[in-house]
Amino acid sequence: MSLTRLLVATGNAGKLREYREMMSDLPVEWLTLKDVGLYGMDVEETGDTFVANALLKAQAYSQASGLPTLADDSGIAVDALNGAPGVYSARYAPTEAECRTKLLGAVAEVPTALRTARFVCLIALVVPDVVTMYTEGRVEGAISYEERGTNGFGYDPIFLLPDGRTMAELSSEEKNSISHRGRALKKLQPFVECLVRNA
Ligand code: IMP
Repeated sequence: MSLTRLLVATGNAGKLREYREMMSDLPVEWLTLKDVGLYGMDVEETGDTFVANALLKAQAYSQASGLPTLADDSGIAVDALNGAPGVYSARYAPTEAECRTKLLGAVAEVPTALRTARFVCLIALVVPDVVTMYTEGRVEGAISYEERGTNGFGYDPIFLLPDGRTMAELSSEEKNSISHRGRALKKLQPFVECLVRNA
């Protein structure tokens, strides 16, 4: 039996690794942008919400590939900064390390109780001519005072969980089981299984 092919449309190496880890059990052939020759294709994230940008990316890459396509838009929202950097998390500074340094600086004067923040992930799934849908996952935490941990990517070393560890101090299994991306993907799983059954 041939496997259902599904494109995971992200150029972000950290996201891609987590998708690979989380989806290895599903009976699907997961393809990357590289696999389908679309790695250089840029889709401008012109939306001002996570949903809008996730849909933009999934629609553009599914149209270009003709394949069922999954794309995520995600980021960190800090309450003391009125939700910033939010949808601009990837563009907050030129590199991931500079993003973390800038965010730590932006909340340097904010007291512990007001440093609350969350990671948000919107996953959009587009099956050409069949369905367009999305799911959302969130994880609540706070911004730390310094970087800790070496796992994960992006803002993980400065995202404090209620147990006192940063997201970058979790193993990948632990992160995937509680993360915004893990939660959004778990909600999407029954629909992917349905896609496989009806292929
Ligand atoms: P996007 O490609 O526009 O969705 O960018 C998302 C950005 O949000 C990433 O480049 C990271 O900076 C940040 N981000 C999203 N998910 C995570 C995560 O799981 N850990 C740490 N940072 C994340």
